[in-house]
Amino acid sequence: MGWLSWLCGRGVFFLPEVILEARDIEFEYPDGTKALRGVSMGIPKGKKTAVLGPNGAGKTTIFLHFNGILKPTKGKIRFAGRDICYSHAFLLELRKNVGIVFQDPDTQLFSASVLQEISFGPLNLGLSRENVLRRVNQAMAATEIVELKDRPTHFLSYGQKKLVSIADILAMQPTVLICDEPTAWLDPGNAARIMDLFDRINQEGVTIIFSTHDVDLAYSWADYIFVMNQGLVAGEGIPEEVFQNESLLKEADLNKPWLIDVYDELKRKRWVVADMPPPKTRQELMSRISNSP
Ligand SMILES: Nc1ncnc2c1ncn2[C@@H]1O[C@H](COP(=O)(O)OP(=O)(O)OP(=O)(O)O)[C@@H](O)[C@H]1O
Ligand SMILES: [Mg+2]
Repeated sequence: MGWLSWLCGRGVFFLPEVILEARDIEFEYPDGTKALRGVSMGIPKGKKTAVLGPNGAGKTTIFLHFNGILKPTKGKIRFAGRDICYSHAFLLELRKNVGIVFQDPDTQLFSASVLQEISFGPLNLGLSRENVLRRVNQAMAATEIVELKDRPTHFLSYGQKKLVSIADILAMQPTVLICDEPTAWLDPGNAARIMDLFDRINQEGVTIIFSTHDVDLAYSWADYIFVMNQGLVAGEGIPEEVFQNESLLKEADLNKPWLIDVYDELKRKRWVVADMPPPKTRQELMSRISNSP
């Protein structure tokens, strides 16, 4: 399991560059909770990586290490081939590149209005007023929250707050965008629009990392998946591989995506050609059924 299948599956003959790396990270919260117990992860540059795992597995904790908000008790985080250090100047530079949308928008939003909130980061980068305004307007348009711009952030619904926190980070134009549960609190329309938006920025070269409890989303959307459990990486690989690994799914209490379940049943009944990999989208499944003999 791992890089080899990634390469074979795509006919690629070189290893993808790793942009962010966790090397044997251990982390203990001040109350003594051991949240990470030796996590190693290599995040492929320019790809879409999903992190799955049950509540309390350590997903948020490793994300907070990736831009230096938390400092490991043991181990190292590397960005673009360099060990990160925790000086003010280094962290400032790192956070220009690695942006995090927090799981809980209430921990991220603190300004009075939506416009002030999204302007805060770019203003701190020392950009001109016009440049800041251009970035803020682009971020609000991309997340479809322009009509919220003068609203106080604390009166917004949770889903609206999540959209504002995503716009917040988009306006920083990071090269790596980490989103802790991007679709939590969003209605299906907004969830689909946000994932389309992430697709577009990924096509422009931005590396995307996200955590989710939605196995269907991870299967259809991610290029690569890490499964965490009890403060460790329990498995990793391309989605097709991870979701065929029954013992891993059982260990991490994950369901199979519905597309794989339905496809396995269709194969068993010989309603589709058996030697093809499972479809990645609903449309692909429909067309395989209608094209089957
Ligand atoms: N501030 C904190 N102080 C003490 N323990 C914490 C703190 N934050 C998280 N933990 C603990 O660390 C472990 C990992 O938590 P973490 O939030 O990283 O899990 P997660 O995989 O993101 O879970 P979820 O799916 O619920 O978001 C859990 O046991 C959690 O209770
Ligand atoms: Mg979490």
